[in-house]
Parts: sequence; C-alpha cells; structure tokens
Amino acid sequence: MKNKKIILIVVAITLILGVSVFFFIKSKEVKITFKKANNIEINSKIYNTDLIKSIKNGKLQTKKEIVNTSKLGSHKIKYIIKNYFKKNKEYFYTIIVVDTEKPTIKFDKQIETTIGVEVDLLKNVTAEDNSKEEIKVTVDGEYDFKKTGTYKLYYIAKDSSKNEAKEEFTLVVKEKPKDTTIITNPDKTFTTTKGFKGYTKNGLTYIAGYLVANKTYSLPSTYNPGLNSEVQSKANVMFNDAKKEGLNIYISSGFRSYNTQKNLYNNYVARDGQNAADTYSARPGRSEHQTGLAFDVNQINSSFDNTVEAKWLASNCYKYGFILRYPKGKENETGYIYESWHFRYVGTDLASKLYNNGNWITMETYFGITSKYN
Ligand code: DAL
Ligand code: ZN
Repeated sequence: MKNKKIILIVVAITLILGVSVFFFIKSKEVKITFKKANNIEINSKIYNTDLIKSIKNGKLQTKKEIVNTSKLGSHKIKYIIKNYFKKNKEYFYTIIVVDTEKPTIKFDKQIETTIGVEVDLLKNVTAEDNSKEEIKVTVDGEYDFKKTGTYKLYYIAKDSSKNEAKEEFTLVVKEKPKDTTIITNPDKTFTTTKGFKGYTKNGLTYIAGYLVANKTYSLPSTYNPGLNSEVQSKANVMFNDAKKEGLNIYISSGFRSYNTQKNLYNNYVARDGQNAADTYSARPGRSEHQTGLAFDVNQINSSFDNTVEAKWLASNCYKYGFILRYPKGKENETGYIYESWHFRYVGTDLASKLYNNGNWITMETYFGITSKYN
C-alpha cells in the first residue's frame, strides 16, 4: 500500500517535471519573423539581414550579404540561427523576384527628313530595363516618307514581365529643299563670301540652287518662263488661308517679261530720273519678276504697308515658302527700298531661315552676295 503511494508520487513528480521541461524548452524556441512584402524588384540591392524583422531566443549566425535578385521568380534564402541551447538550426525565407518597372527609352524627340528619303526611325534609339534584359523597341503609328507632313508617332518598349514604355516623338517629312537643284555642266562656278556654291548656266545664276536676280546677277533677255506653276499653287493656298481670316490678297503683278520690265523701267526713268528709278524699279533683265518665282500683291505702293494683309503676309508667308524679298531697312543689301507687296518663292526650308522670327534676313546677306550695278 505504502509502496503504491510512493510510486504514484514519483510518477506525479516525473510528469510535472516532464511537462515543465517541455514548456521550458518550448518557451526557449527560436522565433524568427520576416518583413511582410516578399516581392523584391529585380536587380535591386538588398541584404539578407534586412529581410528579418525580429529574432527571439536565438542569434543569427549567417553573415550579412547581398541577396541575389538577378533572376525572376521565387528564391529561397537560408539563415542559420544558434538557439538557447547553443545549437545551430536552419531557417528559410522565400522571396519572389519581380519586375514591375517599365523600360526607359532614350530617343530624339524629333526626326526630320526630306520627302522620299527614308530614315531608320530606330537608329538613335536605345532602351534599358532594370531586368538588364535586351529590350526591343518598335514604332507605333502611321507615316509616309513619300508625303510631306508632321507625324506623331510612338516608341514602344516592353520587357518580359510585360511592363510597357510608350514615348511620343515626331517625324517631319519636309518638302525637297530648293537648294537641291542640280546644275549639270555649269558654265562657271564660284563660291560666295558665306561659302555657298554658285553656278552660272545659260546666263542664269544659281546660288545654293536658288535662281538669283538682282542688280548684280542678271537674266538673259530671252528668259521667258512665265509664272511658275508651283509658285502659283502655293500662292493660292496662302491666299485661301488668308481669306479664312477675312483677308483679301491677290496677285497684281506676277510674271514680267524682259520687254515688259524694259517699258516699265523706262517710264519710271522718264518720270523720276534714273537715280530715283533705280531705287525702286529693276532695270530690264534684273527683275525678279522675270524669274517667274516672284509677284506683287494688292496695291504696289506704300499704301499697302500698314494693311492687315501686309502684316499677315510678313508674318505668315514663310510657312508657304515665300519671303518678303525687300525688307524695311535693308536697302543697302537688296539694292531696293522696302516693298511690303513683293514676295519671292524659295520653299519653306530657306523661307523659314530668312524669316528669322520676323526679323527678315535678305537673300543677299544670307548667301553673301551683292546687289549692285557695275
Ligand atoms: N520692284 C522690283 C525691284 C522690280 O522692279 O523687280
Ligand atoms: Zn515686285
């Protein structure tokens, strides 16, 4: 009976001891918690130790080191922790390497070309992504190298995680510059003081491909082309646009033959004397009207100067390829007084340059040539 009691007590004590030991060991168990977001951006620099939020009852044995985040997908990270009883144990944390960033595209905002000249739209384009993978760039939008225009297009770059970058750029297809006129077998070549190539052929002088007529450069009396059809059609477009703004512009003197100019000039000389006439009227063979590339509009005198039409033309004609040929204050360059009514076609390329934000540059100064009778 007594023995039985002793056994019972021993069993009870053992049990209590066992349970106590169990709970004690349990209370000394290592507890490691990690930071919540296990999504890590590809190729980001992150340390293994930075992922741990807290460790209880243990000491981290793993050294601090950079996690390899160079590959997409899940990736197990091992940690060794020495527990309360000085025993090393392994713990794991799984991260998921993702790519949520879109590629960056380096490109030119505007590409310019001439009608008919195809250019590689991807030539100066590069794309980079945080994934470091090779990124292909494509062009989105419609364009036509055979039609002049300003095309709004996009570069598209996608990475393998389907992050897409889209960047706008502009393709400008310009009309053929007038300076591409090719003179074969010129009679004479020269270079202007501004470095432009000059050619004379059959009595006509071209500078950088532009036909020039002024006091220095004459036209043969037989040169009789009539008003150039391109000039006429560009003028029509310009006048039509002006009409939409309520303006009335028309050609009052277009092409003038050598003989027409001769009569005109002689009449002015008879009326005002040669010195005066030379300031406003070209001698025969020296008038731009004989090139078929120039015309006068509306009133051919200073009463046109301050009209809305004159102002509109002076600030818009370059958009249609025309220049204000004899600007105010440039008498010493052009050889003629200010003519608010006289316009010359040169194409938009040169016209934009000469327009010079409203501060007109003369053909003479631009090319580096004179306009003087010798
Ligand atoms: N009025 C311009 C200069 C001409 O006669 O051609
Ligand atoms: Zn004129």
